[in-house]
Amino acid sequence: MNEQNKLWGGRFSAASSDLMERFSQSVSFDRKLYRQDIAGSVAHARMLEKQGILAAAEFQQIERGLAELRDEIESGRFDWSVSHEDVHMNIEAALTKKVGDAGKKLHTGRSRNDQVATDMRLYLREEVDGICAGITRVQNEIVKRAGRESGTVMPGFTHMQAAQPVTFGHHLLAWNEMLERDHERFRDCRRRINVCPLGCAALAGTGFPLDREMTARELGFEGVSANSLDAVSDRDFMMEFAAAAAMMMVHFSRMAEELVLWSSPAFDFIELSDEFCTGSSIMPQKKNPDVAELLRGKSGRAIGNLVALLTLMKGQPLAYNRDNQEDKEPVFDTVETLKLCLAVFAAMMPGITAKRENMRTAAAAGFSTATDLADYLVRRQVPFRDAHEIVGKLVACALEQGVALHELSLGQFRGFCRDIGEDVYDLLTLDGSVASRNHVGGTAPDSVRQAAEEAALRLRARTADAG
Ligand code: ARG
Repeated sequence: MNEQNKLWGGRFSAASSDLMERFSQSVSFDRKLYRQDIAGSVAHARMLEKQGILAAAEFQQIERGLAELRDEIESGRFDWSVSHEDVHMNIEAALTKKVGDAGKKLHTGRSRNDQVATDMRLYLREEVDGICAGITRVQNEIVKRAGRESGTVMPGFTHMQAAQPVTFGHHLLAWNEMLERDHERFRDCRRRINVCPLGCAALAGTGFPLDREMTARELGFEGVSANSLDAVSDRDFMMEFAAAAAMMMVHFSRMAEELVLWSSPAFDFIELSDEFCTGSSIMPQKKNPDVAELLRGKSGRAIGNLVALLTLMKGQPLAYNRDNQEDKEPVFDTVETLKLCLAVFAAMMPGITAKRENMRTAAAAGFSTATDLADYLVRRQVPFRDAHEIVGKLVACALEQGVALHELSLGQFRGFCRDIGEDVYDLLTLDGSVASRNHVGGTAPDSVRQAAEEAALRLRARTADAG
């Protein structure tokens, strides 16, 4: 071995400086990939043996050595060293120490460049599956609740002004749709993750007669990457993952913002359970929605990590460049953030109590059924623009008298439009208004109940597929 004990030290005469080692090392964070790294090495070695490149005994030594190393790592007995730079060289050096020459042959037909790309793909594939299961759990909570709140009337907002009455169940199903698409994005991204770079070596492929299909199969990949230059340098599977994650966190942030608003005394639409709130160290009366605020705040990380990855890649020529070592921490951070946020959201949902009376009172304020009145006139052959004008005047009249629309007398209504009859009072009620929107995607209790049932069925089918 060369003087400084590096796996690549042959052509070097001076040892690395401590500063260089500290700057260059990634083992402090990429050791997270030890399982994937070992699985990749076992698959590669098995293929080398089948191809006659390794002897059977050599493969067995490698397989046994790697299994022992795995145990040592998991029981905390493995001695990670920055002088071996990254997870790959730490494990390879330890293997060689354990089994001698067979360990030195493991890297035949392989480079850390295809190795690290493989490790990250194996890692993300597994994490995406966990994240998808986490999204399904949150969706289940949301959909269950939506079914129970299909008849709960609340104000629907545009511009944060009460616009038209909607049902709380309908609002929750809007959240479910966002997460449904997030789930789809992760599933879709998984297909492009699940391609095996092994065999592409440093950048140009290898002269050894490898069986790339076999290695890919061993590792559960759908296929092998089609171009070696691309395979070792492509990080768009990570950018795609980070983009799907950032989008999901933006959705969570918007939902969390609504929880913050609704739980504030000014709205008083919901009560969050004590478990997911904190008190103030100075104001004894306070119950703060810190968990919802953190969910909102953590979207910043996910967005930042996406931007970090995009920026990391934008100037890189083919093929592998060391810049790519910087891809790991943003991806790891996004994965950990997502898993935590999904678990918290699912746990927090059942503890949310809807204050149905307060929601209804708020929905009744602000002339929220004015559009229903305009539509009523249209059904009586008044052109929509004229109907809009008439209702605008009626609202002004009610405002002047300090009453709600349904508190105007029939005489007053007819003073503005002769086409208004006694039946107008039915549709000015909140329940009449929401019940009339009984179409696919509409807010009527019947439509929401049906949509919630269908969503629950879809989720059940999805869970059955995954199992
Ligand atoms: N630690 C490196 C990374 O994360 C592994 C690949 C290093 N390859 C190289 N040619 N220096 O990207």
